[in-house]
Amino acid sequence: MGVRGGYVAFGLMLALGACAGEQPPPPETSAAAVPATEALALQLTTEQASGKVVFETMCWTCHGSSGHGNGPAVQATSVSRPPDFTTGDYPRLTPAQLQARFAARSHPTMTYIQSMLQPEVFQAALAYVPALGYPAEIPGSAIGGAAMYALRCVGCHGSQGRGDGPAATQLTVKPADFTQDTLIARRNFEGVFRRIKEGGGPVHGSAMPPWGVLFSDAEIWDVVAFVATFQPGSVAARPVP
Ligand code: HEC
Ligand code: HEC
Repeated sequence: MGVRGGYVAFGLMLALGACAGEQPPPPETSAAAVPATEALALQLTTEQASGKVVFETMCWTCHGSSGHGNGPAVQATSVSRPPDFTTGDYPRLTPAQLQARFAARSHPTMTYIQSMLQPEVFQAALAYVPALGYPAEIPGSAIGGAAMYALRCVGCHGSQGRGDGPAATQLTVKPADFTQDTLIARRNFEGVFRRIKEGGGPVHGSAMPPWGVLFSDAEIWDVVAFVATFQPGSVAARPVP
């Protein structure tokens, strides 16, 4: 095992230790405890919140749980590949705009899906789609990235992204504080993507693991989308429903 391998193993050990040992901090529930930017990324209307349940029950099989259009039914069968909801204008639409546009277009595969649900249930699932693609500047889903962050990143980077997770005190090179991060401030999201994919070992001699060994590029974009929301002003606000 070379030097790089050593850092990698060390980083993963810490990451696993942080997850397996003590319980990670419980997800914040009170509105006051969640910083404004995080609330913005994850905030849903009542209709979107019920649509999320539908999406994660049946739509994800084709669209993927983060909306990339890469669900298991598409990968395993001859279903045609749906659009990627994290790109194009999907994240910029209000729920009402997406619902109106959907009604005006024809969708060969979706006609069948639509026939299986109560109209208001289907409309709620549509309303969730723009929230899933947020933020528009990044080809990833902050909502999708939030779940990955809670599992893999919070131990070092902390629940508010300030680089102060429970494992941070054990590290000589401190985890990045995403509220201050310069790559995010410059909106160099490609740079953030590469740092997450390649890790910190070879560059900074840090414990930041090279996540490319575990995550697909689409998943890495999701977590880029999420960490960008920790820094106020780095991504545009969600359109008001
Ligand atoms: C069997 C696979 C499959 C499932 C399940 C599925 N979709 Fe789709 N979806 C597609 C495909 C394929 C397209 C591309 C258009 C078409 O062929 O109908 C699409 C397109 C869309 C579009 C884009 C429409 C546009 O004009 O931009 C939206 C929005 C959408 N689906 C929402 C949903 C929602 C909400 C659900 C769950 C209630 C869902 N889909 C379930 C396969 C699926
Ligand atoms: C074992 C601790 C650890 C874990 C787990 C960890 N990181 Fe890091 N991370 C670091 C350290 C230390 C740095 C600062 C040094 C560096 O950049 O290499 C860092 C730096 C970064 C940077 C670079 C910021 C910049 O501007 O250079 C990004 C982005 C990042 N981490 C994202 C993540 C994401 C996303 C996850 C979860 C998938 C994660 N990290 C998990 C320790 C960790």
